Amino acid sequence: MPQKIYKLTIRDFAKLFGADQKLIPKECGDLIDKFDFRYRKINQSERDQIILSVLRRLDSGELSKSGKKNKIRWERGWSENLEDFTKNNYDISRLVPLYLKPNQPMRFCGDYIMPLDSRFEVNWYTIFRIWFFSEYLKDSSFIYEFGCGTGYNLPILAKLYPEKKLHGLDWVEASRDIVNKLAKRYNWNMEGRLFDMFSPDEKLIIKDNGAILTMDALEQLGENYKIFLDYLLKKFPLICAHMEPLVELYDQDNLFDYLAIKFHKKRGYLGNFLTSLKKMESENKIRIIKIKKVALGNLYHDAYCFVVWRPNPRI
Ligand SMILES: C[S@@+](CC[C@H](N)C(=O)[O-])C[C@H]1O[C@@H](n2cnc3c(N)ncnc32)[C@H](O)[C@@H]1O
Repeated sequence: MPQKIYKLTIRDFAKLFGADQKLIPKECGDLIDKFDFRYRKINQSERDQIILSVLRRLDSGELSKSGKKNKIRWERGWSENLEDFTKNNYDISRLVPLYLKPNQPMRFCGDYIMPLDSRFEVNWYTIFRIWFFSEYLKDSSFIYEFGCGTGYNLPILAKLYPEKKLHGLDWVEASRDIVNKLAKRYNWNMEGRLFDMFSPDEKLIIKDNGAILTMDALEQLGENYKIFLDYLLKKFPLICAHMEPLVELYDQDNLFDYLAIKFHKKRGYLGNFLTSLKKMESENKIRIIKIKKVALGNLYHDAYCFVVWRPNPRI
């Protein structure tokens, strides 16, 4: 019997974002129609095989751990992207990070699915970003993306908001150089700068209605995120939007989530960040605007969850 084929619809996207379908930007709707979001559900024996492969990977000793010692890996990776980008006439598609892997099962609504199109995840991520940036960054004139990597999010922001000043910050020189090349080549209002979230630069000026953005970047701080969180609070931005794996959102008693927790811990990803934010909210220091467990992820974990907050006015 032929296997049933499913397809992500705008309704699914709205549910994944935790948004009202009617408020999804038209551009996102058009892209949902344009891209191929067909997938098939997997059967029991495929599921067993996937779980086995995840467990094997967890035990392989091959997973690198986040933290200060990992900087060299990022330097190597982003230098390759920089070279590739420069050699190929500043082609933005060369900035797609290698960890967005095609042709792999994905996590979706509590189970694994198999996308039909190899660009399923990259395309989902493009739509997610357009929605996320439109929803939360519209009121700021300055956007500061910390841990901006290959600068891959900045072209989307530049096209959405040509009038805003964008800052791409990362501790890797190649990353800063890519952002500055993007600015020059495409005449975009953006600037790259070195910045280490483990040791935040007090001299960096965050403008009054500046927005802070992190996209799977705080994850790299592991348990050592508090210095940067205190720094953000002190800088008093208009809004902070973080798309990050948030370990508190998993259910410890569910096998599917348990595997993701194991992966999160093995990688040394972000500690109890949400717990810290909730404590700060209980102390009246901040207001949490939204926490969302986005029920879609790569083979290993849910990397598209997000939390948005803002500091409370000082009395
Ligand atoms: C998973 S990548 C995400 C990159 C980018 N935000 C994206 O969405 O493609 C994590 C990024 O965090 C950066 N990073 C890790 N630790 C950092 C630190 N202490 N200070 C600044 N950047 C850091 C890495 O260099 C890398 O660019």
